Amino acid sequence: MVVCVCNAIREKEIRDAARKGAQTPSTAYAALGRRARCGQCVSFARQIIQSETATA
Ligand code: FES
Repeated sequence: MVVCVCNAIREKEIRDAARKGAQTPSTAYAALGRRARCGQCVSFARQIIQSETATA
């Protein structure tokens, strides 16, 4: 599913970035060559990163 509508970032991309070391939404987006715009997705992206790093 799409997490960030502004950047068309999918949940899978966030999880991949988290596994590669991104610990915050902004670093995950930067790793994908994007950056947060409206900010609506940030709390959801943070939850995804937390769940990914918790299971790593
Ligand atoms: S939905 Fe991610 S910055 Fe707008």
